[in-house]
Amino acid sequence: MREKSIQLSPSILASDFTDIRQTLRLISSCELDYVHLDVMDGMFVPNITFGPKFIKDMRAHSDLIFDAHLMIEEPERYIRNFADAGCDIISVHKEATKHLNRVISMIKDEGKEAGVAINPSTSVFEIENDLASIDYVLVMSVNPGFGGQSFIAGSLRKIRQLDEIRRAEGYEFRIMVDGGVSLKNHIALKEAGADVLVTGEAFFRAEDKRAFIEEIES
Ligand code: DX5
Ligand code: ZN
Repeated sequence: MREKSIQLSPSILASDFTDIRQTLRLISSCELDYVHLDVMDGMFVPNITFGPKFIKDMRAHSDLIFDAHLMIEEPERYIRNFADAGCDIISVHKEATKHLNRVISMIKDEGKEAGVAINPSTSVFEIENDLASIDYVLVMSVNPGFGGQSFIAGSLRKIRQLDEIRRAEGYEFRIMVDGGVSLKNHIALKEAGADVLVTGEAFFRAEDKRAFIEEIES
């Protein structure tokens, strides 16, 4: 894997699900490492996407890092299923479980990287006690449920706060940002301390994907 100052994780939510193999090939051909998988249950968020079966089928066609973002209530019910399906990173929402620490342990016990996602109205201090043990914080910069929404600028402050805590405490989690990421805000996000940018619409709508990636990575 190439060392990059910033990683892009394209969200397949903005792609045609019936053409998933082509989408995976496209992402690999762009020399990207991650693919972002938005799992929605119609309860935690007002939308429904796909589950472990779809991810397992994708796994047979790709070596990308499967970055699963579970927008589901009580994710503890399905950690084993998503791990078995071949996810590499499993991120769960702080707001979706009463027992976040237990869910993180379940993900680690499966040998996967653990992420914690926080909604725009959730403070970074609500997950302070778990920052030492997780691999990713997924800062939602839109209200989860749909692609193509406008970036909520207040999330920049949360990224800065996380970066400060990380430096002060010597933690190793990476900061991933999800929602409304585009060429209009990527510089501010990097400066704030983001390590991985999830991009749905901006990536899949870009006519020239290589130019888009070069600009983000530059
Ligand atoms: C929203 C999802 C995002 C979404 C991002 O609930 O978690 O991953 O696909 O899409 P864009 O980049 O279009 O905002
Ligand atoms: Zn997402």
